[in-house]
Formats: sequence, C-alpha cells, structure tokens
Amino acid sequence: MGTFLSPAQIAQYQRDGFLVLPDFADAGRCLELRERALALAREHVPSPQLATIFTADGQALHASDEYFLTSGEAIRCFFEKDAFDTDGRLRAEAHLCLNKLGHAMHDLDPVFDAFSRTPRLAALAGDIGMHDALLLQSMYIFKQARIGGEVICHTDHTYLWTEPRSVVGFWFAIDDATTENGCMWALPGGHRIPVKNRSHLNASRTATIMDQWDKQPYPGTGLVALEARRGTLVLLDGALPHRSGANLSDKPRHAYTIHAIDAEANYLPDNWLQRTTLPLRGFGSC
Ligand code: FE2
Repeated sequence: MGTFLSPAQIAQYQRDGFLVLPDFADAGRCLELRERALALAREHVPSPQLATIFTADGQALHASDEYFLTSGEAIRCFFEKDAFDTDGRLRAEAHLCLNKLGHAMHDLDPVFDAFSRTPRLAALAGDIGMHDALLLQSMYIFKQARIGGEVICHTDHTYLWTEPRSVVGFWFAIDDATTENGCMWALPGGHRIPVKNRSHLNASRTATIMDQWDKQPYPGTGLVALEARRGTLVLLDGALPHRSGANLSDKPRHAYTIHAIDAEANYLPDNWLQRTTLPLRGFGSC
C-alpha cells in the first residue's frame, strides 16, 4: 500500500479531525456516479407508503421501519420530509424527492463499486492509520434544491460503533457544495470531545434507541464551513461533530459518502447495520 498523504496532511487530519482534499476525484467520474445515482433512484424508488422519511433529527420516523433496518445489504431510497404536500402527495417526480440512497451501492452496483475502490483510497486509508479498512456503508445524498433537509450536528461513531473507535467518513462532493446549498460544517479538533451518545438496536431488534450519556449538545459555535468543489474528498474522523444546512437554493448538492471501519476493531452486534449475507470488503478492487 503506497503513501498518498504528506506528513503535514496526516498531522493536520490528526489535529483537526478532518482533511479536505480538493480535486481528489476526477470530475468526469463524479458526473458518471451522479448519473448512475439518478438511474438507481428511478429503478429502486418505492411507493411513498413503503418508504421512510429520513431526517437526522427525527429518529422516530424511521427507527422502527424494517425498510431502513434491512437496508445495509441493499440499495434503498429514502425521501425528504418535505417531499410530500399536506395531502401526503409527492410534490414532484419521486426520484427528485429523495433524500438519499443507502446503504450498499458500493457492493451491489458496478459503477459505485469502481468509484469506491481505488489504489489511492486504499493508500489514504493506510496513511490515516487504518490497518485493514472495510467498507461498511455507502450513502448517496441528493440534498435536492429547495427541499434538501438539514442534518443536525452528530458524530458517525454514534451510529457505527466499534471498539476501539475506527469509523472514518470518506465524503465526496459530487456537486459544488457551498454555504448556499447546504455544505458540511465541522468543528476543528472536536474529535477530542468524548462522544456523547450511541444509537443501537433494541432488544427485539425492531427499532433503534439512543443512549445519551452527556446531555450537553455539541458546541454550536466554532464550526467551519467545508465548501467543496466537485471532486473534493473530505475525510472525517468518526468522533468529529459535523452537520449540514438545509438546501434552500435552486442548486442541488449531491454528495457521496463511504463509511469504513477497521477490521481489527470490534463491530458491535447491536449496531443497526448488520451484514449477515454480504461479506465486507476493503478499498482494493478484489
Ligand atoms: Fe455524518
């Protein structure tokens, strides 16, 4: 495994808990992934009754939904909460009302698979200390113009818990992300704050519940905007508090995220995402 990052970049990642790498992905490949995501959305869009409205601040909306809980080994569609009018009808064509696709495109779709597994990504994972990185979940986030919802401040470790902590987010800007269309915000150094909560399956494994051992919210100030041009890769430590705003602009803000864990860490059996049939694979192409 080669080395991709300079020692200064590795030090920056360790200091801040995130690292922004402009022009990491080729713009043409981003557009290819964008087109594929829209095709998958058309192909997999469920009836609105079946789909779960996904909001980070509305856990209860999807927590008991089997459609969500079994999506770790599938390609599923999740709607925006503002996708429906007051009569419960979709405001636009279904595939244009989606919040995201999740959570196994990287293993089930050849275009996503190829985008997600490259020697450079493998080198990068090694550079930031992952010994044996495994791709756990993928999300294609549409953040649609005007209806793209906000994601409240959270850490990814809360949802994908390993012991010791190992989850890292690999976030790709597929469209240009700005403060107008809901770019990400992160708290520099915030990965040193002890993680405050953990979401996990209940005893009957039919819903998720949140253990909250620190009622103080993450700091609301001090976050910096991670504006990113198409092709930018942002690495996010699993304990880094981050959020994104609503997209009230007329420009969509598509993004693609891979969450990887270290095979050497213990992935807890009551995490919501369980891969019982599809084996996890790394960043290598085979
Ligand atoms: Fe996140």
